[in-house]
Amino acid sequence: MIEELLPPGVASSEAFDDEAPAVLFPAEAALMAGRRERRRRQFATARACARRALAGIGREPVALLPGPGGAPGWPAGVVGSITHCEGYRAAVAAPAGTVAALGIDAEPAGPLPEGVLGLVASERERGRLAVLGARDGSVPWERLLFCAKEAVYKAWYPATGLWLGFADAEVALSREGTFRAVLRPPVAAAAVVDPVYEGRWLVAGGLVLTAVVRHAPAGVAP
Ligand SMILES: CC(C)(COP(=O)(O)OP(=O)(O)OC[C@H]1O[C@@H](n2cnc3c(N)ncnc32)[C@H](O)[C@@H]1OP(=O)(O)O)[C@@H](O)C(=O)NCCC(=O)NCCS
Repeated sequence: MIEELLPPGVASSEAFDDEAPAVLFPAEAALMAGRRERRRRQFATARACARRALAGIGREPVALLPGPGGAPGWPAGVVGSITHCEGYRAAVAAPAGTVAALGIDAEPAGPLPEGVLGLVASERERGRLAVLGARDGSVPWERLLFCAKEAVYKAWYPATGLWLGFADAEVALSREGTFRAVLRPPVAAAAVVDPVYEGRWLVAGGLVLTAVVRHAPAGVAP
């Protein structure tokens, strides 16, 4: 499913259970020692997805350990992203020469828990969600907004190393399966980045999936 949201050149892999986990590298296994079984299985399946995504761009399997802020440490010259939620795990990877930032997120396609929307959406965003909901009640728009913001964060953080709060980006969802996030000027300026992140979304199989892909400027060497 996730591949539907990605342009050519971005490799992906997904799994809907933990039946084919990766054999972990010693450093990964050490990291998971003593962790709950559920987390170990989720981590291992996500690593299997990540290594398949790496193979998709011609890269050897490597240990993928969390770096600063929890972002996975992709090998040099690779950008990527990982997500997992109940019944779904996925990873995407691309050569850094063609893609500057990648972020994916998956969520169950249901309502957000009580009280969460007020923490993650501005008044303007909530107004737009109400309009979208009135036009098409089949899409869990509030969950989708949350999922879009998490994908933006996963694309933002590895490039900047900075925290980005839910109020730091204004996200507009379209009914056509796209979204646009505009970062507030202070955070964008602090990180010297283009303040606009474009993304795509889909709802299928009881899941909401989002992907943000920022292409590298032409001429950047891999
Ligand atoms: C980090 C965060 C985005 C993870 O999302 P989640 O829905 O809880 O969990 P997911 O399963 O989808 O993703 C987890 C994976 O994200 C990746 N991840 C964690 N921290 C990350 C970071 N700082 N940057 C990029 N990727 C990160 C990891 O690969 C992790 O999996 P792993 O631990 O097995 O390697 C979320 O917990 C969070 O902190 N959100 C607050 C920040 C935010 O979203 N701001 C909105 C800005 S508009």
